[in-house]
Amino acid sequence: MKTIRDFDLLNKKVIIRVDFNVPIKDGVILDDNRIVMALDTINYALDNGAKVILLSHLGRVKTLEDKNSKSLKIVVDRLSKLLNRKILFSTETRGNNLENMINSMKNGDVLLVENTRFEDLDGKKESGNDKELGEYWASLGDIFINDAFGTAHRAHASNVGIASNLESGIGFLMEKELNVLNSVLNNPKRPYAVILGGAKVNDKIGVINSLVKKADYILIAGGMCYTFLHALGYNIGSSLLDSDSIDYCKDLLAKYKDKIILPVDNIVSSGIDSKDTTLVNIDSIPSDKMGLDIGVKTIELFESVLSKCNMVVWNGTLGYSEEKAYEVGTKSILEYLSNSNCDTIICGGDTASAAINFGYRDKFMHISTGGGASLELLEGKVLPGIEAIEK
Ligand code: 3PG
Repeated sequence: MKTIRDFDLLNKKVIIRVDFNVPIKDGVILDDNRIVMALDTINYALDNGAKVILLSHLGRVKTLEDKNSKSLKIVVDRLSKLLNRKILFSTETRGNNLENMINSMKNGDVLLVENTRFEDLDGKKESGNDKELGEYWASLGDIFINDAFGTAHRAHASNVGIASNLESGIGFLMEKELNVLNSVLNNPKRPYAVILGGAKVNDKIGVINSLVKKADYILIAGGMCYTFLHALGYNIGSSLLDSDSIDYCKDLLAKYKDKIILPVDNIVSSGIDSKDTTLVNIDSIPSDKMGLDIGVKTIELFESVLSKCNMVVWNGTLGYSEEKAYEVGTKSILEYLSNSNCDTIICGGDTASAAINFGYRDKFMHISTGGGASLELLEGKVLPGIEAIEK
């Protein structure tokens, strides 16, 4: 597969698909990891004399009102600071103004185009990989570089569509993600543990099925552990239960009982907003309480398993870590792994945001920028965004 290094970029209009789909609350970017991780590719293109046109989506755009909260303009300042240069911004995703802006660009200019999913308002053209839209965006540049690993599991006009119409390669972030995650899939260092958290078992069945065969240990916590505990016959009170997955959990536990490690104690309360927290063993969850974080004995248990490992892949927080009262489990294991010699890979989404927001940005072998994409890759699926470049 071609990478950005394989192209002569001088004087070229280089379209780079990035994934700037960053978490935003009240107009503030909560975690800029995806922007930071795209810098190497952008800087390389600039250092080699390119005109850089950046395309990204932000959130899902379903109504006209969504345009206000989903504008990529919010990224301009942050990107400008990180690149230390002015960023041009096109409020339009197609048309004369955009074309004029591109035609006036000089080498070393960076143009960020408005959210590609604004095109979804006109019949899902971006998400549906509309042929004409892919051809149109491709016509704006000379070379296409896909560096949006986080979006590689989608077949959209701004990744697959453009790649089908223009000379294409991948950027440094995409290359790093593929190297690291493929090495986990094909040649993990052993012993190798997978930590799984997050809310629903059902969302993770594909990845569990793939990893359970390969990993030496599977540590399960977060909301999803309660479906496993229920399957073992524990009373889980009002904790999250994924009813459709109970039989799946029973089968998995029967087959892999020596590999699967579940919590032995947890922090419970009346609800996520309630502060009446209590630490109880897993066999003593009161009927009106829900488990929201792992307890001290579980932290010790997880650490003792991880102390035997040379590689760890982690997806999903271990409790409801957005709330201070339930962040201890996730934080403790982050701290433990950050001080160990184990190769740790944090897979995207909430886990990546937690690691970064708790101060562990540079403490691990890799923090993936892909949530869904990293899971699908680890499941062994072919990602359309990458397949389109290979073709
Ligand atoms: C992600 O955050 O997983 C990617 O940016 C893809 O976003 P999507 O799930 O809205 O397609």
